[in-house]
Amino acid sequence: MLRQVRRYDSANPVIGKDEMTQPTDTEPQIPISLERLDALVRSLTIEERARLTAGIDAWHPAGVDSIGLGPMLTLDGPNGVRGMTFPKGSSATCTPCGTGLGATWDVDLVAEVAARIGAEAKRGGVDYLLGPVLNIVRSPLGGRDFESYSEDPRLAAELGVAYVTGMQSQGVAACPKHFVANDSEAHRTTVNCLVDERTLREVYLLPFEAVARAGAWSMMAAYNRVNGVHCSENRDLIGDVLRDEWGWDGVLMSDWEATHDTVAGATAGLDLEMPGPPRHFGPALAAAVRRGEVDEETLNCAALRILMLAARVGALRVSDEAPRGEPASAPAAPAGAAPRGEVRAAGLRAARSDSTTPAGSDPTKPIRLSDSAAATLVRRAASESFVLLANDGTLPLAPASLRRVAVIGPNAARPCTQGGGAAHIEAPYALSPLEGLRAALPTGIEIVHEPGCSIDLFLPPLSRMDLTDLDGAPGLTIEFYRGQEPAGQPASRYNIATSEVHLFGDLPAGLPQNDFSVRISAWITPRVSGPHRVAMRGLGARRLFVDGVPAADEWDAAAGIDVPTAIFEGRENGRTFEFEAGKRVLISAEAHSTSHHPSVLAVGCAAPEIGDAMAAAAAAATSADVAIVVVGNDELWESEGRDRKTITLPGRQDELVERVAAVNGKTVVVVNAGCPMDLPWAEKVAAVIYAWLPGQEFGHALADVLLGTAEPGGRLPVTLARRPADYPAYDTTPGPDDELTYREGVNVGYRGFDAAGVEPRFAFGHGLGYTTFEYESLDLAADGLAEGEPLELRVKLRNTGHRPGKEVIQVYVADLESSVPRPPRELKSFTVVRLAPGETTEVALALPDRDLAYWDVTRRSWRIEPGRFEIQVGHSSSDIRLRQSFELT
Ligand code: BGC
Repeated sequence: MLRQVRRYDSANPVIGKDEMTQPTDTEPQIPISLERLDALVRSLTIEERARLTAGIDAWHPAGVDSIGLGPMLTLDGPNGVRGMTFPKGSSATCTPCGTGLGATWDVDLVAEVAARIGAEAKRGGVDYLLGPVLNIVRSPLGGRDFESYSEDPRLAAELGVAYVTGMQSQGVAACPKHFVANDSEAHRTTVNCLVDERTLREVYLLPFEAVARAGAWSMMAAYNRVNGVHCSENRDLIGDVLRDEWGWDGVLMSDWEATHDTVAGATAGLDLEMPGPPRHFGPALAAAVRRGEVDEETLNCAALRILMLAARVGALRVSDEAPRGEPASAPAAPAGAAPRGEVRAAGLRAARSDSTTPAGSDPTKPIRLSDSAAATLVRRAASESFVLLANDGTLPLAPASLRRVAVIGPNAARPCTQGGGAAHIEAPYALSPLEGLRAALPTGIEIVHEPGCSIDLFLPPLSRMDLTDLDGAPGLTIEFYRGQEPAGQPASRYNIATSEVHLFGDLPAGLPQNDFSVRISAWITPRVSGPHRVAMRGLGARRLFVDGVPAADEWDAAAGIDVPTAIFEGRENGRTFEFEAGKRVLISAEAHSTSHHPSVLAVGCAAPEIGDAMAAAAAAATSADVAIVVVGNDELWESEGRDRKTITLPGRQDELVERVAAVNGKTVVVVNAGCPMDLPWAEKVAAVIYAWLPGQEFGHALADVLLGTAEPGGRLPVTLARRPADYPAYDTTPGPDDELTYREGVNVGYRGFDAAGVEPRFAFGHGLGYTTFEYESLDLAADGLAEGEPLELRVKLRNTGHRPGKEVIQVYVADLESSVPRPPRELKSFTVVRLAPGETTEVALALPDRDLAYWDVTRRSWRIEPGRFEIQVGHSSSDIRLRQSFELT
């Protein structure tokens, strides 16, 4: 059987040979003609047109009443629909993180996951879903590595196109971000990334080029500067490359508060300033046009692109024929979509007023966008993402041989299913490895659990104590008030589960962001007597009380803008109190806001340590038939706003693994991290699984893979080094003048390891299954290939094991005679193949000639040099099974 491998979207081939410098000529899918939209734009006043270019609040770009366009709604992704903090309990499906999806190497699966998120977004009334993240895992320390797909631009590009296509199939605009070179978090709003032109083109721009050519409806300009100019006003990157060269007609919005200048932003090609209220666009842009500082046609283009997007997502209710403002039949929206028009102004609240959605406008009635079909999909996606790095035969486990299983580690019962920052969503649940194994293992097998150590960056959240709200229910009470003092009758009061609240953009009872106050309170019952440290942290004006006694006071603190960064920069402020075991204490924290900026309020409490957790873990492992040790990070270690300082697992986790492995020869380590971490004990344990931040179905998916009911389908989308110094890019701290130089050039990730001849601990692309494959042959129809012709190749593969399995065929290109230094090999194509035991298949792939090209900085174009090339096909970047060279004439 011959399988033809195609790029994800066959209607819009990504980076085809004839697209090397040409805009795509596929028809834009706009249900209203461009002429009509253009006429609509021109029928608006300059002020109305400019109004469209700015937000009105945290999440809504403005509409214009006279043409029946209500405010649109943006919400964060990419691993689910965010923005549901209020009302309480509102939730959406939490999928694996970016690197997890990257590890699947499966474009069809990523498109399916994105379509699922898109369907939920549509039900929630969302127009722009802010994802995928197409930045590159440049350094293992990058705080948002978990949101990105890979260190490799081609893998990121193809999965990005799949995500965009899946999302937009639901009538929701994907918003690939952050354009461009926003690959780390240190000084993220000011850092000046110095990236040479060839590196920009071949690595950092490539995924954005792919989604632009595939028709992404929007994109987000990054916070940082590139070669001296902020991304939101970078004319070279936006005007010349994104608009003119790639012919992209989507809406470019700024990252939150990343617009700096009216004229520079607008003339560079930025369309939308977010969030609102407007500062540089909106009225300021209208004034700049009236003063002649910005050309009116520039404003018209921005307004037109915004109306095109509104038409694409079904938000603009005009037909080709209808005169201005007259409602006409709206483009068909997918089933269950939120009602359009004025009611949409309130975003998710509007969705609740639709009888097809499961909630009302009362903040105590949750919206649930997720369902059991979503759970099945994300369970499969998670097992497809798990990378089996090493296995001495211990896996899959045979339950019949087990009597006692030790489930150890800080993440075993308290997993990290998603990262922190904008990507963090309210999930319906987060099923832990411990719960998953309890559900999957036959009764009769004893399961013991010991955390072994803790990994808290700050004081443990208050919500981890034994606590009740003011009415005696588990959790905390939150009360919102009008005005600056939390006194009198609350405007809204309900129970919450978390002791960290982010107050931005969706306050209950319609409270204004710039005039409200809030209190969170809980009764805690200490488990032990002794000194307890209680502290608050966050952003904005706040104070803390313990039994009515002031414990910290920052009631006059200024508001901030960059929440994620502030969360880490802010110190914990509190005191130590003597508590008595069993005697309850009332802890409350208050905040107030006079500005439109976000507030964050978090409360933690550390009790005295009891016993030796590490020794207890080792003891539990000693008597078990197998020890499953789940180590990793949490949402503070992996978050927007902060890069890590080291690749060492936080706390004493390495010691924990060593201690367990010393007493149990069947130690299986599960690494619950979304970024590359150091695994110094990897050769001393029976098996290692890299599980990323796998979403709400972690426990079930892990049990599936441990017990062999599912294959560990993942392959590394990043390289795992033996030493920090081996990474081609490591430290992300900008130097003097806030400069961060991308010194490694095009040799990011495995390309740098290959160029330096350094063996990684686990290579890019590596991952074992429970069966084996033989690469039988590689045929090229290539010798004497001329420029412009695609390179056709055929790979024969056989499942030589006893189980069905998945293999990811990886195709690398090496330019053997280049006039410029090129990476020893570059990934150019890949495909997932699934075969039954003994089954053989032949896969046909075609590489467009651009796959042989490099960016020629003197000609400022892609260049294919004649000469010898080698095609390398294999299982990972360092496990090449078949090679063939050919001459390009
Ligand atoms: C992040 C974006 C996000 C935006 C809105 C910013 O801080 O960088 O990724 O979409 O906030 O939450």
